[in-house]
Amino acid sequence: MADLLLAKNIKKIYASGHQAVNGVSISIQKGECVGLVGESGSGKSTLARCLLMLEKISEGEIFLHDQPLHKMTKREIRKIRHCMQAVFQNPAAALNPKRKIIDSVMEALDTHRNICPIYLQDVREHRELCAKRLLEMVGMADRYLYRYPHELSGGQKQRVAIARAISIQPSLIILDEPTASLDVYTQGQILTLLKELQKQLELSYLFISHDLPSVHFLSERILVMKDGAFIDCFQKNDIFSQARHPYTKMLIHLFEG
Ligand SMILES: Nc1ncnc2c1ncn2[C@@H]1O[C@H](COP(=O)(O)OP(=O)(O)O)[C@@H](O)[C@H]1O
Ligand SMILES: [Mg+2]
Repeated sequence: MADLLLAKNIKKIYASGHQAVNGVSISIQKGECVGLVGESGSGKSTLARCLLMLEKISEGEIFLHDQPLHKMTKREIRKIRHCMQAVFQNPAAALNPKRKIIDSVMEALDTHRNICPIYLQDVREHRELCAKRLLEMVGMADRYLYRYPHELSGGQKQRVAIARAISIQPSLIILDEPTASLDVYTQGQILTLLKELQKQLELSYLFISHDLPSVHFLSERILVMKDGAFIDCFQKNDIFSQARHPYTKMLIHLFEG
């Protein structure tokens, strides 16, 4: 089966001359959650932005559904970009403070009117019902539809960002530290929600975090990034294997306290 996403030898050198991503390759299959863990500054967000084509890569190739994103014009990228959705660390920044929740949730569906996910088939023609269904899918009551972001908690805002990300049934969702700004209790709730949605909707995730336990909870395959490179890659069940890289062992030790 063809890879959903295939990135080969990605390099990113910033204008400052700093090489943030140092030739990494990654493949993600349909329905798979790949975890990416690494300390702050290791290049995780840079790689995420490169894969999302928000940042121009210095070298390498990116294929989504076998289509070469690195060769596309801006216009072509705009057409295909919705296939990849993203959820970032700061949900407050992801939502327009002047727009009601319904308008943020419906943003992608309003733009891509021809897209109709299976789970919205019966309500696609009815904007309010669509938004209501999406909020329901992320565990939020419909009374929030006409509220503004500042009236919601951090966890609720992140739920709205997730609702928007799943709204057009994307091929891949890149989650860059989606729980890092939340308290520990809310982190657990959001991780559980993400896991349920992934199973239910057969979503593909690239889940990025500096927190190994979160990555382990959600991912089937785990990549460890350090100084812009992948230094370890393993299946979830092999986390305690002797074959792990010393750095991975150090991360494990850190969380075992
Ligand atoms: N826009 C930028 N310009 C120059 N350097 C950057 C930029 N963004 C990030 N960096 C640098 O690239 C490195 C990796 O950053 P980042 O990808 O944000 O890491 P992470 O997400 O793992 O914390 C860091 O040294 C950071 O300072
Ligand atoms: Mg980051």
